[in-house]
Amino acid sequence: MNKWGKLSLGMILAVGLLSGCGQNKNDSDTAANGNATNGGAAKKLTMGTSADFPPYEFHKVVDGKDTVVGFDIDIAKEIAADMGAELVIKDLPFDSLLNELSSGRVDIVISGLSPTEERKKAVDLSDIYYKAEQAIVVREADKDKYATMDAVKGTKIGVQTGSIQEEIAKGIEGAKVTSLGKISEIVLQLQSNRVDTAIIEGPVAKSFVKNVPGLVITDAKPEVEDDGYAIGIKKGNKELLDQVNSTLTRLNSEGKIDEFVTAASELADSTK
Ligand code: ARG
Repeated sequence: MNKWGKLSLGMILAVGLLSGCGQNKNDSDTAANGNATNGGAAKKLTMGTSADFPPYEFHKVVDGKDTVVGFDIDIAKEIAADMGAELVIKDLPFDSLLNELSSGRVDIVISGLSPTEERKKAVDLSDIYYKAEQAIVVREADKDKYATMDAVKGTKIGVQTGSIQEEIAKGIEGAKVTSLGKISEIVLQLQSNRVDTAIIEGPVAKSFVKNVPGLVITDAKPEVEDDGYAIGIKKGNKELLDQVNSTLTRLNSEGKIDEFVTAASELADSTK
């Protein structure tokens, strides 16, 4: 790893530790006394995420301590810093995140969230902060067998519950869809022959196939309309939405998001 890689990794580890402390200290009293508009006590920004999704958000042992890291977390830290707030991370099932947001138990959702029309009705969504393609993951021996979307028709497909991949899979002719809470569970089902294909976000698929022997990405490309990722904010919280968009604009202009993605991918692939 080059010097810059080491440096950014070190920075992320250091910041990761800080946020880890915050999380442990005060996981229970959350958005209620913690959101941005609260004047009295120290400000908190409570983020909901499903930390099964490297390099976006995942668990990593940092200095002997389980920590949630990833480029979505780096973005959240920047938003919190711009607000002068302490970041609190809540690791929750992906399909519960928007409810948690609407009910005020979290202030923001950063979780590789695709901005679908349906979600736009339920919550406010920030500007797009990153784009990626979808991938089909299979067992190594099946790489050529499932090289087109046509070939994926009629297969047993594994997807995450509540995700756009679940919708994509349901739209595939003859598909037998298995929906699971975590991406790691989909990977297990693939390994044990219980599903034959999985639809996973490209960067996440890459991270898993790199680290799990026997799985590969095929040439098949699922098409999606809602490409790109946005941050979810409770409907009507314009102050926070403006804050989030202004931090995203700053990060983009500084080239930070790409730096975060690179560093988080390295972190996801490193064994230590
Ligand atoms: N982009 C997809 C969606 O919004 C999947 C996101 C899953 N995120 C996660 N952290 N597991 O539906």
